[in-house]
Amino acid sequence: MKIYGIVAASENNVVGVGQNIPWHLPDDFKYFKAITLDHYILMGKNTWLTFVKPLPRRKHIVVSKTLQPSDLSKDVRLFSDISEAIRELEAENVPELFIIGGGKIYEQTFDLMDRVYITRVHTTIDNGTAFFPKINPKHWTLIESEPHTKDAKHQYDYTFEVWERKQQ
Ligand SMILES: NC(=O)c1ccc[n+]([C@@H]2O[C@H](COP(=O)([O-])OP(=O)(O)OC[C@H]3O[C@@H](n4cnc5c(N)ncnc54)[C@H](OP(=O)(O)O)[C@@H]3O)[C@@H](O)[C@H]2O)c1
Repeated sequence: MKIYGIVAASENNVVGVGQNIPWHLPDDFKYFKAITLDHYILMGKNTWLTFVKPLPRRKHIVVSKTLQPSDLSKDVRLFSDISEAIRELEAENVPELFIIGGGKIYEQTFDLMDRVYITRVHTTIDNGTAFFPKINPKHWTLIESEPHTKDAKHQYDYTFEVWERKQQ
């Protein structure tokens, strides 16, 4: 199974402040939707709790040691361990899994990622509480980079970047 990370991060790798993402970039939501549509998405409890309801046409996996299945919609799968979730999906021959956050989950799965879809938001956030690991170009190749300029609906410049892990 290929494991992909998908994230929007500031120049200093902030992805969240408390429960919130510290920007509003509607075209990034559209990009996230286009990339993840009809795929499996894995997230931590805190990220799940920011959703009002499951995202349409995505297969949701939530990891938590404290949530109970009855806390979730019945089409959302709950695992108490990330490795167990990955083992189970591999056993089911799922070809691709998207890790969608938050900080705690990115940190624990970064070494497993084959590719990262990162929307680099061109600002620095000083009070971040959740982070994406640093991408070291020694180990990763930038295969796509699509810059966008801020406008009335997008408060910051941002770049859609796709990084692939170099073969050892
Ligand atoms: N910018 C972006 O692209 C993006 C994307 C997603 C989220 N975010 C932001 O990120 C922030 C949330 O990140 P976060 O780090 O606070 O939380 P998180 O990673 O979403 O969730 C952490 C929780 O997941 C569970 N968990 C973590 N590791 C686990 C493991 N190995 N096995 C089982 N369960 C595990 C734990 O829940 P239990 O305590 O219940 O065990 C833990 O408290 C928010 O600000 C959100 O808006 C940003």
